[in-house]
Amino acid sequence: MEVIIQKNAEAAAQLTAALIGDALRLKPNLVLGLATGRTMERLYGILAEKHQREGLDFSLAVTFNLDEYIGLPAADPNSYRSYMNHYLFNNINIDPRNTHLPNGTAHDLDAGCRDYEETIRDHGGIDLQLLGIGVTGHIGFNEPLSAMRSRTRCKALTPGTIAQNAPQFEKPEDMPKRAITMGVGTILDSRRCIMLVTGESKADIVAKAVEGPITSMISATALQLHERCTVIVDEDAAAKLTQQDYYRWIFQNEPEWEPYR
Ligand code: F6R
Repeated sequence: MEVIIQKNAEAAAQLTAALIGDALRLKPNLVLGLATGRTMERLYGILAEKHQREGLDFSLAVTFNLDEYIGLPAADPNSYRSYMNHYLFNNINIDPRNTHLPNGTAHDLDAGCRDYEETIRDHGGIDLQLLGIGVTGHIGFNEPLSAMRSRTRCKALTPGTIAQNAPQFEKPEDMPKRAITMGVGTILDSRRCIMLVTGESKADIVAKAVEGPITSMISATALQLHERCTVIVDEDAAAKLTQQDYYRWIFQNEPEWEPYR
């Protein structure tokens, strides 16, 4: 794992966007894993700007989102499909047929989950998986006790996650209590992970995820097992990390990061 501490949320989102842009320029048919949530809103805005101003080309890119609520049709304004259309897909030149999210209204949800895994495999696996972290330590919707080898499946959401996300619903009680999520194993299979975390409300959980013991009680700790995982945090989210000086030293002294300083 490497941890990069940026001054504020804007700088953290800018660096994340720059890394995604680099990956896409290097491999135009990049298979990109995507996340939703408040942390990603600005990042997607920057990616859309890069498309509009710098011609960043998404025409051959393929995307797979981490999760979707069960029971919300794609057209529902609170579905993650609607979120993705609004914040990213409608603002870049991606082919909508290349954008994939789990189907939360499938007649047979388990078969839909198996199909999702198969479609990822058919595309050669995920090159770069973007992640946020929930207050419960989830990645995707892998709530506590998610198996480290879990695959895409239905998952009941914890009260903590419901409290985190319900305010986004006009009627908070309408928030679904279950979701389909890629598994921890699915995420660990991606070739590269970038986790973006901002804000002081995430400082405790990010410290546990990065520096704590690996445990299925905090799914994000599984990223310690990944060979190529970059955690990009702002100073507020980094506040409880004990090795901040070391992480800053590495970022300052590694030649690989030269273009981003
Ligand atoms: C959503 C997802 C979640 C979020 C996490 C943080 O697709 O994967 O793991 O990344 O809940 O959400 P925000 O950014 O709203 O704090």
